[in-house]
Amino acid sequence: MMNKKKRLLLLNGSPRKAKTSYVFARTMKELAEKKGHKAEIIHIIEYFDEEKHFEALKQVILPQDILGLVTPLYVDTLPYPVIWFLERIACDLTGELKGKEFFAVAQCGFPDTDLLHPLLESCGYFAKALEMKWLGGLGYGGGALIDGTPLEKLGRKGKKITSAFAFALDDIVEGKSISPRVQDQLTVKIPKILYRALAAFLNYRKKREAYSHGVSVADLTRKTYLENKV
Ligand SMILES: Cc1cc2nc3c(=O)[nH]c(=O)nc-3n(C[C@H](O)[C@H](O)[C@H](O)COP(=O)(O)O)c2cc1C
Repeated sequence: MMNKKKRLLLLNGSPRKAKTSYVFARTMKELAEKKGHKAEIIHIIEYFDEEKHFEALKQVILPQDILGLVTPLYVDTLPYPVIWFLERIACDLTGELKGKEFFAVAQCGFPDTDLLHPLLESCGYFAKALEMKWLGGLGYGGGALIDGTPLEKLGRKGKKITSAFAFALDDIVEGKSISPRVQDQLTVKIPKILYRALAAFLNYRKKREAYSHGVSVADLTRKTYLENKV
């Protein structure tokens, strides 16, 4: 029997429109289309920055069967524009998303996918609050190293991620919870002994990038919450 063709909307949660979250969303879109489904990507930042009208979004969202958030981790949670967007949807589309399916793919700078669990749980809570079916969340640790490189240019690593997304989509388009083996496939196994060195390298890279944008050492160590308010 032919499976029903689904409509899938991927929400890019990164303010950086062409980086790792987008690269993941783009691959998922292509895979869904290869399976004969319809898929499109929207950038949350365009609604946050009012380049696109939030009111028009209703027409984009309502015809969809499945919504998927693809997002980076910011300071251990969702980036603020994503929180804003989900809260607006919860207010403006109350009751209208009932019965749709929702999943999330989160990625972060560090290789540890456990860091993504609170974010993914928030997404599950969002789905349940809006009476959508939560299909589950996937986490990828090490998105900063990909930094927007298309998966097809990443050799074995890219193939592994793409194949994990293909397995995830098999479940997603059938309205099934994403199988735990997909997360296993997506998890980069770093020997414990190397983890500290890798984390130090990633921190060093981030600091160097911050300094190149004019951030000072004092800025990085400031504890604004302890400073006297004027
Ligand atoms: C403001 C900010 C906060 C971040 N916070 C974290 C964090 O708490 N933990 C982490 O592992 N990565 C963190 N990152 C790294 C991003 O999650 C990572 O670079 C991700 O791949 C960026 O996604 P994008 O390329 O789609 O923008 C942060 C990045 C930024 C810019």
